[in-house]
Amino acid sequence: MATVATTELDSLREQALVCTACPLAERRTHVVFGEGDPTSPLVLVGEGPGDQEDQTGRPFVGRAGQLLDRALDDAGVGRARVYITNTVKCRAADWASGKPVNRAPTDDEAAACRRWLEPQLGLLAPKVILCVGAPSARNLIKKSFRITQERGLYFPCAYARTAIATLHPSYVLRQQTAAGDDGGYGLMVADIRKAWEAARRLVEKELDRASLFDV
Ligand code: URA
Ligand code: SF4
Repeated sequence: MATVATTELDSLREQALVCTACPLAERRTHVVFGEGDPTSPLVLVGEGPGDQEDQTGRPFVGRAGQLLDRALDDAGVGRARVYITNTVKCRAADWASGKPVNRAPTDDEAAACRRWLEPQLGLLAPKVILCVGAPSARNLIKKSFRITQERGLYFPCAYARTAIATLHPSYVLRQQTAAGDDGGYGLMVADIRKAWEAARRLVEKELDRASLFDV
């Protein structure tokens, strides 16, 4: 079954790579579809590609991505064990000054890109979704999501048994101070650990039920 879903995921990726459904298509270098273990019980959904991601076609490979990798390691999970994608698959930036300045995707852009995110999550069928940052939580959990108050809590979600949100690593980088404030890094690690443990427990529960039929 995993093989069939993987093939379907590849074909979805191929279609997404040539998407021109919203204005972000005009300035992008690469569509960043997502990567990782498609059989993972945990899927991370970030905000959207930045410069490095746009250049490489891979999610979370810039400065924020490096912090996220470290947090995944510190949570005892590791990047290789999850699947990572984004709310929008093309870089959102303002070009008014001539140089791109990254910005959050608009509601219209996020809505347009659901044409990829929804079937993608449908095929991945994760037990738990970890929304990385407020735009992702607003897109997948509820419009009024308040990241500082509601991060780390379980919410119902149409695409998984539950969804949890955490701080965005770019936000954490901005909050960190030379004086030693971790900017919320510890909270991010705790949220990742919580999401992974929940995903693992849900997988174990399923195996338990399946094993009833083996005897
Ligand atoms: N920030 C995101 O939200 N996603 C990425 O892929 C990179 C940076
Ligand atoms: Fe298509 Fe999404 Fe890129 Fe917009 S952001 S062009 S909807 S892939």
